[in-house]
Parts: sequence; structure tokens; C-alpha cells
Amino acid sequence: MFHSNTNYQRLQGSYLFSTIARKVNAFKETHPEVELIRLGIGDVTQPIAPSIIKAMHAAVEEMGNPDTFHGYAPDLGYDFLRKAIAGEYREMGCSIAEDEVFVSDGAKSDSANIQEIFHKDAKVAVCDPVYPVYVDSNVMAGRSGEWETEKNRYSRYIYMTCSEENGFTPEFPEEDPDMIYLCFPNNPTGMTISKEKLQEWVDYANRIGAVIIYDAAYEAYISDPEVPHSIYQCSGAETCAIEIRSFSKNAGFTGVRLGFTVVPKALKDADGISMNSLWARRHGTCYNGAPYIIQKAGEAVYSEQGQKEIREQIAYYMKNAAYIREGLESIGLTVYGGVNAPYIWLKCPDGMDSWTFFDRLLTEAHVVGTPGSGFGAAGEGFFRLTAFGTYENTVAAVERIKAWLA
Ligand code: MLT
Repeated sequence: MFHSNTNYQRLQGSYLFSTIARKVNAFKETHPEVELIRLGIGDVTQPIAPSIIKAMHAAVEEMGNPDTFHGYAPDLGYDFLRKAIAGEYREMGCSIAEDEVFVSDGAKSDSANIQEIFHKDAKVAVCDPVYPVYVDSNVMAGRSGEWETEKNRYSRYIYMTCSEENGFTPEFPEEDPDMIYLCFPNNPTGMTISKEKLQEWVDYANRIGAVIIYDAAYEAYISDPEVPHSIYQCSGAETCAIEIRSFSKNAGFTGVRLGFTVVPKALKDADGISMNSLWARRHGTCYNGAPYIIQKAGEAVYSEQGQKEIREQIAYYMKNAAYIREGLESIGLTVYGGVNAPYIWLKCPDGMDSWTFFDRLLTEAHVVGTPGSGFGAAGEGFFRLTAFGTYENTVAAVERIKAWLA
């Protein structure tokens, strides 16, 4: 009789957003009359911008014409998109070449898959709280050790607690990791890291011979000039960092899927093996390229008009973020994030735990959010709201929360 991958037995519960969806659906079934407002999963609500849709339409037409039809995409991405992405890095002052950019179907897949090019025994460091994909993908790969119920943590991971005390930025761990996952602007806390602090992380990773897997999915939300948009704005990052980016949050591609990962050619393992060539090999074997239509849409994101339109959308969501922040602060809640990021991280009032707050918010105020403890033990007592709703729903949700807690 065959055996399944036993690592999967170590996964805790189901994927966070699946658990939430199940709870919400159960409530909807028993209360069909209730209009819920969903500020849980970070899914966008604004349609894809007109100039991007126009490019997508044109690409659809090309696909229907024998002279312009495209079959399999190049597995690493079309040159036109890789060039546009490398161009954006150049504008940020980072020297990233086109062949260091790998186009994919989104940052979630890349952040789950990137661990495959590391040694099976690599030591993994994650922030706590953390985007669960980094944790679960390494559990599946067998790097987590056992789940320790009393600690709410895996035995083999190196956890870097991000708390109110350290301003939700991680400190160097006592034990040296091989792989360090960092996400800034942060999901779930909505907090950022300064350029100076990120430089310290780059220097640290180079010193100990570790790789930082830097998830910059929310970089478009940065307005503070002191906050870096890319880890490659730090010197020496090309020898210790991989960066993952998304088109979901800046351009509303959650439903069409597009992202990319940067793996510099200078990034080599202890034996001098190029991580760029390993990721290219993995892409070539496991992936047949993001669709032409979607990559053309991605190219349009970089056009002058595309940039103008997506900036308007980002401003729209950040207006929501400000509304949530200010509304919750006005009733005395402690609130973090929401300034350079579309997530608001609030402290549950009266010492309430995260899931109790979730259940009560759902059943009493009819607003859906995400319990902080779902992102890790250190998220207990916190709760995440997203700014990705419509403005009208955001205003209504904040008013419901105010009335509920008054
Ligand atoms: C979230 O809500 O944390 C994100 O939407 C999840 C994701 O981007 O995969």
C-alpha cells in the first residue's frame, strides 16, 4: 500500500482563509438575511484599470488571429514584460537584469515554491505573526520539525517575534538560519521596515551566509520616502536576497494571476551553485509560463497611463485605510499599520482573544476580518482588517464596529 507525504500530517488545521470562509458560510446559512461586510482576505474590489483592460482586449484579439496567435509562453516570461520589470528596478536605483526576473502566476505560488531550491535540511526563520504560506510550504517540504501544541509553534523553525515592543520589526535570531522570510510592508501587521534596518538584515544575511526571501507584494502602498520599495535598494542584497512581487495588490490582478520573482545571478550557495540557474531550471520543468494575455496586461501596468490609473486605485484603498485607522482610534482602540500598507492591525479590546473577536464581530456586527492568531502565536490578541473593500463598505463596517463597541 502506498504512503502519502507524511509532512502534510504536521500541517495545523486548514489554510487560514479556508477556515474563515467555512465559518462565514456557516453563519450565512443560518442568517441568510444578514448583509455581511468582508474585510477579511486581502482581495481587491476595484476593477482592473481601463488602459490595462484595453491591452488585455488587444491581446485577446491577437490570440484569435493565426498571424498573431501565441502558444506556450516562454517559461521564464516574455521579454517585453521582463524588460519592463527590470526597467522599474533601474528607476529605483537597483541593477537588476532582465534574466534575473522570472514571471509567474503570482506571488503566492512563488512564495510557496521558492523553498524547493534550498536544501531539505535548511533552517528556516519566519516572523511571528506571518503570512502562513511561508510556514506551510516548508512544513510540506519537511523542514518544520514537530508541531508543539503548548507553544503553538513548530520545533525546528526559528521564530522572530514581531510585537508592539519591537515595533513589529524582527530582531536577529539567536540561532543562525539558512532561509529568512521577510515581508515588508508587512502582511499581516501593515508595518514597515526602514532602509537602515533592512540594510542591517542584508549585512547580517551576508555575514552568516543566509538568504532573505523578501516578499514585497505591498510595496506600491509605500508613501514614506524612508521606507524601501525593494531589498535591492540595500547594498550587497544581490548576494543574499530573492525578491517576490505581485500584480494583485497594485493592479488588481487577484483574479487573473501574475507575479514575478527576482533571483540575482550573484546569489550562490556554499558550493558556488547559482540560485538563478536553479530557479530557471525549476520554472522550466514545473511551469509553462503565465498566459500571453495576462503578461500583456502586466506590461500595460508599466505604461504611463497604467501607472497613473493604478496610483489612483492605491490612493482609493489608502483612503479606506485612513478611515479605518482613524475610526478605530476614535473609539480608543490601539491600531497599527494602515499608513504605508493596506492592512490595519488592531489590538482586540478588553483582552479578548483573536478568534473570540472574530466570532463576535461576525455574529454581532456582521463584519468579517482575520484573527491575528491565525498568523501565528504572537498574533494572539490582535485582529487584521483590510483596506481593499469599497469605500462605502469600509465606512459602513467602521460605523458598525463603532456602534458595536460603544
Ligand atoms: C491575505 O489576505 O493575506 C492575502 O490576500 C493572501 C494572499 O495574497 O494570498
